Amino acid sequence: MGVPNLDSLLAGSGVRGQRVLVRSDLNVPLSGGQISDDTRIRASLPTLTRLLEAQARVVLCSHLGRPKGKIDPELSLRPVAEALSKALSAPVHFCEHTIGPEAEQAVADLADGSLLLLENLRFDAGEEANDPEFADALASLSDVYVNDAFGTAHRAHASTTGVPARVERVASGDLLQAELVHLRVALEPERPFLCFLGGAKVTDKLGVLEALAPRADVLAIGGAMAYTFLAARGEATGSSLVESARIEDARRIEAAAKSAGRKLLIPTDHVVAEKLDANVPTQTVTEIPDGLMGLDIGPETAGAYAAEAAKARTILWNGPMGVFEIDAFAQGTQRVAEAVAASSATSVVGGGDSLAAINKLGLGDQINHLSTGGGASLEFVQGLELPGVAALER
Ligand code: 3PG
Ligand code: MG
Repeated sequence: MGVPNLDSLLAGSGVRGQRVLVRSDLNVPLSGGQISDDTRIRASLPTLTRLLEAQARVVLCSHLGRPKGKIDPELSLRPVAEALSKALSAPVHFCEHTIGPEAEQAVADLADGSLLLLENLRFDAGEEANDPEFADALASLSDVYVNDAFGTAHRAHASTTGVPARVERVASGDLLQAELVHLRVALEPERPFLCFLGGAKVTDKLGVLEALAPRADVLAIGGAMAYTFLAARGEATGSSLVESARIEDARRIEAAAKSAGRKLLIPTDHVVAEKLDANVPTQTVTEIPDGLMGLDIGPETAGAYAAEAAKARTILWNGPMGVFEIDAFAQGTQRVAEAVAASSATSVVGGGDSLAAINKLGLGDQINHLSTGGGASLEFVQGLELPGVAALER
């Protein structure tokens, strides 16, 4: 069994005049109604361009945000249609419906080599529930199905698993393929294999911590998550964010790394403040005093982490080292980003925050692969099967 790709779809009988339903991940960050980062839109272009050049009738669908089955005008894909049209330098028709008679008519009106974007899949509760009727309705808009939504491949929703179960001709898009190829380095890493994991909560990264602690030569932890690991070692954490319900998990993860002969690094110094605020005084400490909270890894830790990056042959990074949105707490993330960029290791970075940090520093072109998937990339590097990919196997 294998996953057919776009090459094999376009060879053979081709897609001229065929209705090709493309599932992309156009779930872009919005701020004040504006698209604040168009990475996912740009990443979706190669597949769309190839299908349009092959004279397909492209019916594009995606979710945006988490409207939970209700119509939320603020999460309409209309602004994405406009941005996509600019990026493609081609008209993008937009349908205010996702399924139903209006969507059917809009699809019927499509000319060969043109594209229609359907409204947010998650305005209908049937999408996330993988409801059979919703999947039938969506599938009825297509002759061929292409999944290019790597960022959503870990979700078993109607558009990612329901539709491909109903359509005979399916393929993975170029972005989905490229993600799988690049992320595979984390499953078969050249060693030393170094992982940087950061972010707020152990809870969000539990699976990946468990999977990587015994597998990575070095697992370096940052972000608020680190304070739960500090607490697990019985060290002072002041008023830092600590998940008391995860302290036992942190202990177990550290023990698993140790018994596998791996190195698990947690910060040895910290940038602390009274509260999370851009205008409060900060200090660097090796022991977090009562009443103060850790908000970034300190310079000694950042130096040690950077030294590991210089020695590594493969680096995986997900999650910032501190509250990098605020300059006073951005140094740790910046230092790590620079070290990953400068390293000769094969580097893979995923997760919206880590990507934002890399892009803010203009280091994107020094990283081997910037994944468009946060949760999806973490599940993949754990060795888990992604439902959206499994559904394409023929
Ligand atoms: C993401 O941004 O993580 C993906 O688009 C999936 O979205 P979700 O986490 O809301 O399912
Ligand atoms: Mg997510």
